[in-house]
Amino acid sequence: METEQQIVSRQRTRDHGEVYTAGREVNAMLDLVKSETERIDSRFLEPACGKGNFLAEVLKRKLGVVAGRYAKSPAEYDRYAVLVVSSIYGIDILPDNVENCRERLFGVFNDFYRKTYKTDAPSDCAASARFILKKNIVLGDALTFRRIDAPDDFIIFSEWSPVNGSFMKRRDFKFTHLVNANPFAGAGLFPEMEEKNLFSDLGEEVFIPKPIKEHDVIHYLRLADVQD
Ligand SMILES: C[S@@+](CC[C@H](N)C(=O)[O-])C[C@H]1O[C@@H](n2cnc3c(N)ncnc32)[C@H](O)[C@@H]1O
Repeated sequence: METEQQIVSRQRTRDHGEVYTAGREVNAMLDLVKSETERIDSRFLEPACGKGNFLAEVLKRKLGVVAGRYAKSPAEYDRYAVLVVSSIYGIDILPDNVENCRERLFGVFNDFYRKTYKTDAPSDCAASARFILKKNIVLGDALTFRRIDAPDDFIIFSEWSPVNGSFMKRRDFKFTHLVNANPFAGAGLFPEMEEKNLFSDLGEEVFIPKPIKEHDVIHYLRLADVQD
């Protein structure tokens, strides 16, 4: 049996705690939330994603569902496959991990296409998937919420929602607005979120994140036409 490489170098393990999770553990953990891993529009964020061991498995499970349901209709398959890609998010602090993760996820996307239709994903569909992966897999520090390539800027995540079948709405949010606000209350780090939580069991006022940008609705095969 092939052994999975879990460590790149001792230096990286020392500096960044980099030890990849083995497939058996990944699957056992994902099985704890099995129904969510098989729900096409459930969203997953891996905040220290490495090369995407969890995200790749989630993507495979979701694309398996898409293939099972929609393989007979290539247009439906494409639309749901792109939607599945848009539900997967990651952050890593190391540039090569981010690049490897994006490439690996695209490889899973294309392999599924090949398995289903015996050909590569069409170029417009592939371009949309690649564009989403560029946006969703972020080079950043999950502890400070900032980008590595632009340390003054906070990490931004796009929410992708289907509209009228073949169109998508993209709204951009600051990552700081999406995480539970309470741990930072009073610290003065994020004044707009002070004392408010994202969740309310007892009727207290909640913090509802506002998008920092709303993009025009666009056909799901034209996502990459917008280059920002
Ligand atoms: C233990 S590995 C886990 C990787 C992956 N989640 C897995 O299970 O295979 C930790 C990862 O976190 C990344 N990392 C370390 N500090 C980070 C930080 N502050 N923000 C984002 N990623 C970080 C490392 O580069 C490494 O890829």
